[in-house]
Amino acid sequence: MHTAIISGTGRYSPEKVLTNADFERIVDTSDEWIVTRTGIRERHVLNGSGGFSGSDMATSAARVALADAKLAPTDLDAIIIATVTPDYRLPATATIVQHNLGAGKTAVMDLVAACAGFIYGLSVARAFIVSGMYRNVLVVGVEHLTSITNYADRNTCVLFGDGAGAVIVSRGTSEDSESGILSTFLAGDGQYKDLLHIPLGGSKVPLTPETANDPGRFIYMDGREVFKLAVKEMADASERVLAEAGVSPEQIDMVIPHQANSRIIEALTKRLRVDPSHVYKNIERYGNTSSASVPIALDEARRAGVVRKGSTILSVAFGGGLTWGAALYRL
Ligand code: COA
Repeated sequence: MHTAIISGTGRYSPEKVLTNADFERIVDTSDEWIVTRTGIRERHVLNGSGGFSGSDMATSAARVALADAKLAPTDLDAIIIATVTPDYRLPATATIVQHNLGAGKTAVMDLVAACAGFIYGLSVARAFIVSGMYRNVLVVGVEHLTSITNYADRNTCVLFGDGAGAVIVSRGTSEDSESGILSTFLAGDGQYKDLLHIPLGGSKVPLTPETANDPGRFIYMDGREVFKLAVKEMADASERVLAEAGVSPEQIDMVIPHQANSRIIEALTKRLRVDPSHVYKNIERYGNTSSASVPIALDEARRAGVVRKGSTILSVAFGGGLTWGAALYRL
């Protein structure tokens, strides 16, 4: 059994920003409603940001993470891209990122687990490393959510942003025996698939000329139901990874959770009995970037010195599927 360590992190956010004031001009909403119900003040959006696509954002974040890990693209053995907004239905975005990076003939795969996608990717990468199969795995959470957002639906459009976050998961040395990914937990419950989904445009109900402008091609979410389940399952997943690693909530240096709603994060903080000063929040500036949200927050927290070598971190996420998961790791 090898230790799986996080050897580098990186992120990319599009330059263009949509503020709550911008949304006041798009739908019937207010800065006050958005801030009190979600905690969001602004989000980065790809459209109008220099013709970039999801794979370009992922490539940019990956380059930063590789430099941080002091690795060359050719050191990678596998590339996992967690996304629900791939550039194309075929091929996987991971193949495009591999080519952009010049990473050679690595294993390439996309992973669809919505907002929990990065935690799923981290867990898969860990399994590759621990088993001895690979030495360096790139995991990127990247979303172009604004491409599947209905800007006529005030219930959802104010929530989402675009971006990418990347980590390199590597085989540790004997010096790393106290660090690395300590435990992970993954789960899902397909009975709730309709609470958060895109009804049209898949192979089951393809878009036709008649439905080309139907709002069913965008994200639908029953926010109230998702909210309740999110708090319950994120708390449960967190408790499981803590128990598996034998770590108590007081020993967590920082919780870096999925940034979907600051009220969800506050409820989770209470349930876990963690001091709010040990919970990282950047939702105010990014909105919900789905699978990109945890790795963006992790990279930001590292570069700001909020977490550092030796910090014990709990990351937990929840999203469409429904899917959820948690990871406990030490830098
Ligand atoms: N501006 C103003 N009013 C709005 C609005 C907006 N942008 N969006 C919704 N409303 C209205 C609703 O129409 C509703 O009005 P009504 O009572 O007249 O019908 C009212 O605000 C309250 O709606 P409700 O759904 O109860 O709000 P909420 O407190 O549950 O907050 C969410 C809505 C979406 C912010 C919240 O449910 C949420 O964050 N859910 C979970 C999201 C999540 O975790 N996703 C995880 C995976 S991505």
